[in-house]
Amino acid sequence: MAQEEGRLDYLEIEGGRPLSGQVCIQGSKNAALPILSAAILHGGRSVLHHCPRIRDVEEMVKILKELGCRTGWEGETLWVDASSLDSFVISKKHAEKMRCSITLLGSLLGRLGQACISYPGGCVIGERPIDLHLEGLRQLGVSFRSGEEQLEARCKKLIGTRVTLGFPSVGATENLILAAVLARGNTWILGAAQEPEILELCGFLTAMGAKISGAGSPTIRITGVEKLHDAEYTIASDRIVAGTYLMAAAACGGEAVLLKAPVKHIQGMFPVLRQMGVELFREPGVLVVRGPERCRSVPQIHTAPYPGFPTDMQSPLMAALCRAQGVSRLTETIFEARFKIVEELRAMGAQIQVEEHTAVITGTTELAGCCVKARELRGGAALCIAAASAQGVTRICGCEYIFRGYENIIRDLKKLGIVIKYHQPGIEGLGVPS
Ligand code: UD1
Repeated sequence: MAQEEGRLDYLEIEGGRPLSGQVCIQGSKNAALPILSAAILHGGRSVLHHCPRIRDVEEMVKILKELGCRTGWEGETLWVDASSLDSFVISKKHAEKMRCSITLLGSLLGRLGQACISYPGGCVIGERPIDLHLEGLRQLGVSFRSGEEQLEARCKKLIGTRVTLGFPSVGATENLILAAVLARGNTWILGAAQEPEILELCGFLTAMGAKISGAGSPTIRITGVEKLHDAEYTIASDRIVAGTYLMAAAACGGEAVLLKAPVKHIQGMFPVLRQMGVELFREPGVLVVRGPERCRSVPQIHTAPYPGFPTDMQSPLMAALCRAQGVSRLTETIFEARFKIVEELRAMGAQIQVEEHTAVITGTTELAGCCVKARELRGGAALCIAAASAQGVTRICGCEYIFRGYENIIRDLKKLGIVIKYHQPGIEGLGVPS
């Protein structure tokens, strides 16, 4: 299967053991990416601590370099010097690798008044339009010329106004905030996304000297400032990575200790986990999770914008429910093509029926290891969970998707007591991807 993709690497997991161990949660991918976009708003230096060293961040760094910025890593700290930024063009080869490249539209417009970008890529989880981004930016005074592959954006001066989003899109909210920071006057974003990553972006922008109120609520006000200054910021831990390991505990049983867990950002998932029979104990700076031998089903759950159950957690939850006692119904309301792992889970013995946007999962006592393929980031992580809870050995190809968002899932799962190896062609054993 891996050969189809021209890649021969795969993860091998020997399942069937309860979790036992502790892991430190990496910095948040979905916070780091827009924060890196924000770094170019100021012709100076930004220092980002606890920045995850994942493929998507490396891609973003390549884009920043393409724009003329200098960057460097010192351990978990990434610095960006945008004083030498001298381009507003983001090439196709970079933009198409990552959805979040679109947020550079707002920051390039704020800094240079123009941007030229290829349409963004990202995981294939359904239609991912950018109409809300463009309509909002138009209201701030931006005009667009769209070619077949590229979008050109221009503005004389961004002027603050009231923008109402018809859906609380995370990316559109970020783009509008980034464009409004250096705009003239006040901008109100009504119907804004409330995800913790919006708070993170605004926290960094505020550290740079931006004036923002209401972040984390549906109404955000940005008062434009003349200029920003150098800033240093510590990125919050990744709530989806933490959630993935919580679901691993639900699926495999045993006990795991999560260090640097972003408890405030994940406590919305706790009622679902408790319903599944998972126990959670909070100690200062630590979250302890204890999973049952076989978890209980979740009769009805749907994904929703924050503070609802995150769409990024839907596949990890589905993987954990495959062995639950009883029937679960899981409805996806954000991205329509997010049931790509159903086929792979079925190959492992899961009983899942898909009825439009709802997956009906009838828990089975045992999953069996086999060869499966990751087709997108969170689905890939979910396959690791299923593999860890299955009897026998599972080989997962399509690892490149998983590495987009998990700094070192091999190291982390090993620390949690899971038997996992990474095979690369020509390399005996098991490396850890750099
Ligand atoms: C971000 C996250 C992603 C998460 C998602 C929802 C990053 C890099 N990615 O993605 O991990 O799954 O939020 O929490 O932060 N939509 C439109 N028009 C638009 C924009 C969006 O119709 O202009 C629709 C989308 O098709 C989708 C929904 O809105 O159905 C959610 O999209 P959005 O919140 O924008 O997600 P992203 O920012 O792409």
